[in-house]
Parts: sequence; structure tokens; C-alpha cells
Amino acid sequence: WNILKEYNQDEHLINHALAVEGVMRYFATLYNEDPEKWGITGLLHDLDYEKYPKEHCKKVVEIMKEKNLDDELIHSVVSHGYGLVTDVKPESNMEKVLYTIDELTGLINATCLMRPSKSVLDLTTKSVKKKFKSSGFAAGVNRDVIKNGCEMLDKPLEEVIEKTIEGMKTVAAEIGLEGAV
Ligand SMILES: [Fe+2]
Ligand SMILES: [Fe+2]
Repeated sequence: WNILKEYNQDEHLINHALAVEGVMRYFATLYNEDPEKWGITGLLHDLDYEKYPKEHCKKVVEIMKEKNLDDELIHSVVSHGYGLVTDVKPESNMEKVLYTIDELTGLINATCLMRPSKSVLDLTTKSVKKKFKSSGFAAGVNRDVIKNGCEMLDKPLEEVIEKTIEGMKTVAAEIGLEGAV
């Protein structure tokens, strides 16, 4: 958290980091893996983006080495930019989940904000699926990355959306998506 706050002040980026952390923790429990490790990877995945947007996923290597963070964490963080800003492929389940849910949390966030309740708590998979198909909605969200990620995970899109919503529910208050339910 201290490292994140040292490099990130933007509220939207911090909320995004917290959303991804929450979803990663949730998926870790589904894979019987360490939620702390998965959560921290999620929290720090965009560490360099605010200050060094043009060197995203590259500058972070330098920063994390300086902070004596381990190579596994660095590899995982870098791999979320696979095919976009790096050629480091997601290998582990943790890396594949991070790659898949990063853009998806953005789509879910945008979907929530369109709703009368402004909440993730009563959001359905169907609503998100609909927004996924409507390419004009939240056009900045890269649908291909999400699709590729589902293939890597060998899971249907519906299931990944459903679990990502569940993960975001666990941090709804922190990320401003409790709304008026
Ligand atoms: Fe990123
Ligand atoms: Fe991200």
C-alpha cells in the first residue's frame, strides 16, 4: 500500500488497483492459492502507469528492483501487458487471471456507473455480457484481451464475468461501487 501510494495519487487509478486486488484475492481462493500473494500482485500491477504511462510495464521493473521486490512478482506484473506493451507471456494461473480481469474490471466498473443503483452488489452477469458485446460502450476496454485471457484460462466468458463481479463485490465500499442498493 505504501509503495502504491508513493507512485499513485489519482483516485481512479487507486480504485482500479483496489478493484483488481479484490478480484485477485477472490480468484486465489477459487484456485486454492495464496490470496495475499495474488492480492498484492493485483494491487501493484499498474504501479508505473500514472508517472510513466509511456513506459508502462517497463519502468516498473526498475522501481520494483529498487524496492527489493521479488522476481516472480515483477514477472507477473509485467505479463499483464502481454501483446500490448510487453512480450512477456502470462504463464501461471495467477498471471493469466490478472491479464484477463484487468480490462474486465474496467468494463464492470463502467457498467455499474450506468445503472440507476450505481452498484456492483446487484449487478448481473447478463448486463455485463450485453455491454461486452456493445463495442461502442466503454470503447477503451479491450475486449480481445478479455477473450484471449478466457482462452488461456480455458474458462467461458460468462464464468469469468460472474467471478469477477463476485470479487468486486468484496471491495464494493472501497472502490465506490456500493451505490444505493
Ligand atoms: Fe496496465
Ligand atoms: Fe490495470
